[in-house]
Amino acid sequence: MKQKLRPRRMRISENIRSMIRENNLSTKDLIYPIFVVAGEKIKDEIKSMPNVYHLSVDNAVEVAKKIADLGIPSVEIFGLPTYKDEIGSSAWDMNSPVQRAISAIKKNIPELVIVGDVCLCQYTTHGHCGKIIDHYVDNDQTLELLQKVAVSQAKAGVDIVAPSDMMDGRVLAIREALDEKNFVNVSIMSYAVKYSSGFYGPFRDAADSSPKFGDRKQYQMDPANVREAMKEVEIDLDEGADIIMIKPAMAYLDIVSKVREKINRPIAVYNVSGEYAMIKAAAANGWIDEKRIVLETLTCMKRAGADIIISYHAMDVAKWIND
Ligand code: PBG
Repeated sequence: MKQKLRPRRMRISENIRSMIRENNLSTKDLIYPIFVVAGEKIKDEIKSMPNVYHLSVDNAVEVAKKIADLGIPSVEIFGLPTYKDEIGSSAWDMNSPVQRAISAIKKNIPELVIVGDVCLCQYTTHGHCGKIIDHYVDNDQTLELLQKVAVSQAKAGVDIVAPSDMMDGRVLAIREALDEKNFVNVSIMSYAVKYSSGFYGPFRDAADSSPKFGDRKQYQMDPANVREAMKEVEIDLDEGADIIMIKPAMAYLDIVSKVREKINRPIAVYNVSGEYAMIKAAAANGWIDEKRIVLETLTCMKRAGADIIISYHAMDVAKWIND
């Protein structure tokens, strides 16, 4: 049997495979999300997210040190405030856990890139991502609040702000507010393409951020849409976004790939809580090989076109890669 083309030749050994490998997952691709709370010495596991914890600021600093030691360049900070109100004012309170964690981590591990999630849903009594007027999240009045959140995080020492609210015009509004206060080198990683997804379920338990009425479909995107995603990306780049994020990741890699073909800017994906919970649950039952599935999943995110992966698996992945 004569055959000229035998692709299997290039799969014959691990070294050959590694020489022609098109995409490699690196610890440098990762951002590890953490949840900070008030108090001291707190480390409470989140039930639907095994091995992910609510951390008080002192413990958040310890975890941040581990993140840096593993070679992960960045951490994203989410917080649970001590009080909530109609407009979410604890989101820009310099004494809130998020602002305190940002300052403490920056002081102790200055090289770690700190990303701040800019949103209001954890901070409002109604659990929506903006200011409610007549049962509707008012877009333009919300922008003013988001500007305050971004500036407060910049004051605390954040390197990147990541608006996840999905209001129209928020990237430009935040850019203007940051520049006006001379934070010209604080970048914006925009959750440009954020779908209204069931995959955020465990996060909403963890962050106590479920809407108390209705849902987020009037601002987050319909999972059925792709052209609309391209429009969102275009708008956010035009408004000055430095990094474009797509979220969730696993079921949305077609979007990542399409955006990759279109733009020359960095792309991040958010491997969200529900994606994490599914893998952890199957692994806990012994149904899948966790290490193999996680490495495969994140490598495929790179293949689709992501430069940056925000993932609750990040610490495990770094350990596996470093071994
Ligand atoms: C806040 C926010 C959410 C997530 C990140 N920022 C939840 C939501 O929009 O309801 C989800 C992250 C995850 O599921 O891991 N708006």
